[in-house]
Amino acid sequence: MPSNNSLKDAQSPRRSAGVTFAAGLSFENITHSYGDKPILLDLSLTVEPGEVLCLLGPSGSGKTTLLRIAAGIEAQSAGRVLLNGREIAGPNAFLPPERRGVGLMFQDFALFPHMTIVDNVRYGLTALPKDKAKAEALSALERVGLSDYADDYPHRLSGGQQQRVALARALAPRPAVLLMDEPFSGLDSRLKDSIRADTLSILREARVTAIVVTHDAEEAMRMADRIALLKDGRLVQVGPSETLSIGIRPISSPRRSSPRST
Ligand SMILES: Nc1ncnc2c1ncn2[C@@H]1O[C@H](COP(=O)(O)OP(=O)(O)OP(=O)(O)O)[C@@H](O)[C@H]1O
Ligand SMILES: [Mg+2]
Repeated sequence: MPSNNSLKDAQSPRRSAGVTFAAGLSFENITHSYGDKPILLDLSLTVEPGEVLCLLGPSGSGKTTLLRIAAGIEAQSAGRVLLNGREIAGPNAFLPPERRGVGLMFQDFALFPHMTIVDNVRYGLTALPKDKAKAEALSALERVGLSDYADDYPHRLSGGQQQRVALARALAPRPAVLLMDEPFSGLDSRLKDSIRADTLSILREARVTAIVVTHDAEEAMRMADRIALLKDGRLVQVGPSETLSIGIRPISSPRRSSPRST
């Protein structure tokens, strides 16, 4: 279906209406300091199109900082970020967040309490005409199984449902890459397993490239195609969980073993 935003779409790698094209995201020799405090040190990492990569590391290791750099909220001190091989941040270019096709879902995904669920999801779609934005928001809600709640307000939803609304809101602009910063940390453990499994299948279905930040090694093993282990601002290991020596036992949950190639 042709888009009203065809000019904009032509400039953006992320979408034509109705289809997300998963993108590859690369960090090349990223170094970052706050003042004179080094936070990230010569970090290089490529996330393949359609891959779910978990970024695992202790508190303060620089996980959120790396996501902020990818999203364009923070400019790295040195190095480059590339989307499908094109520099989006570096010495030659700096695309602002809204032109990157990179979505960011924060740990604290607060919904706007005074807005209906569908309006919360529509929030990031201001570039679209109103009726088109509403249709896209409804389709994102359908994807997370919550279209019946479109006209409700957030306080009427459970924590898990609110998390799915936040996911719908992040997916609605059809980002080529979705960055999720500890998306399950606010959920109680009873809910966590099922929300995590649902989220993973939604990510697969939306064919989105994702970086999921977590403290939790078992969560990383359950979700990731590959795990990147960050320690004191350095990437110390990257690979499928079974190849990492991070002291976690294999688990038997079904998991896709290799990244999608498209
Ligand atoms: N805006 C900022 N100004 C100065 N220092 C900062 C800023 N943001 C983060 N830092 C520092 O950078 C380091 C890395 O922070 P970051 O938030 O990236 O860690 P993290 O791995 O996400 O930790 P957590 O698991 O606790 O969320 C920390 O030492 C933090 O204090
Ligand atoms: Mg963090």
